[in-house]
Amino acid sequence: MAEIVIVPSPADAGILVADEIVKLIASRPDAVLGLATGSTPLPVYEALRPRLAGVDVSQVRGFALDEYVGIDPQHPESYRSVITKEVVEPLGLDPARIHTPNGALETISHAGEDYEQAIAAAGGVDLQILGIGTSGHIGFNEPGSSFASRTRVKTLIQQTREDNARFFDSIDEVPMHCITQGLGTILSARHLFLLAFGESKAHAVAGAVEGPVSSSLPGSAIQLHPHVTVVVDEAAASQLQNADYYRYAYANKPDWQGL
Ligand code: F6R
Repeated sequence: MAEIVIVPSPADAGILVADEIVKLIASRPDAVLGLATGSTPLPVYEALRPRLAGVDVSQVRGFALDEYVGIDPQHPESYRSVITKEVVEPLGLDPARIHTPNGALETISHAGEDYEQAIAAAGGVDLQILGIGTSGHIGFNEPGSSFASRTRVKTLIQQTREDNARFFDSIDEVPMHCITQGLGTILSARHLFLLAFGESKAHAVAGAVEGPVSSSLPGSAIQLHPHVTVVVDEAAASQLQNADYYRYAYANKPDWQGL
């Protein structure tokens, strides 16, 4: 099963994951990072900033999980712009090595396959950062997504568009379609870090970690992966039935094990 780490705050989660990323880059300077957007990964990116200062990150590669379809890449809320602003620029990464799925309409029919080929050519993702939606989605794999799915176009459910309306002037501006890594793509990454903070994520976290493995809650796909670390604050952990065991296991974890 996944290892569940319950931390006091999102900042603590950010430090925990950032430290793992720093270790990874030290051992593999051209590490391939799987990057999430949205609010959840921000503490990771913030914690990385001082930790990567002075580190040679010129070879680091990255693949974002998803992008809106039909959005101008220059739009401030395109995931290309968000990744540039929140990850590439502050961390000093090489923009040419950081990829987002191409949401342009003209090439959308083969954009998923192109992205899969680019990930494969990079040798796959070493460490994938994931948030989880209130619907239980990871990436933009909404309920019903196949566990075998690869990068492709999906329709966002209304709840996700409402959740993301905070980034736009109104919900009408939130695109209806996205291109997202599939659950199968995500499961191919070597180490998954699923992060969640706040009460609104408690239901999705409990379903992903302890619920039945079901495409009705796409985050439950993590139960099929051999190396998953779930990092949550107390509020997001509040519906976990075995929270005491997770705390006990983490507190008594042998140092040599690492994450
Ligand atoms: C973002 C992504 C989504 C978000 C999820 C949670 O690239 O793939 O799965 O991680 O919607 O969003 P936040 O973090 O804004 O609550």
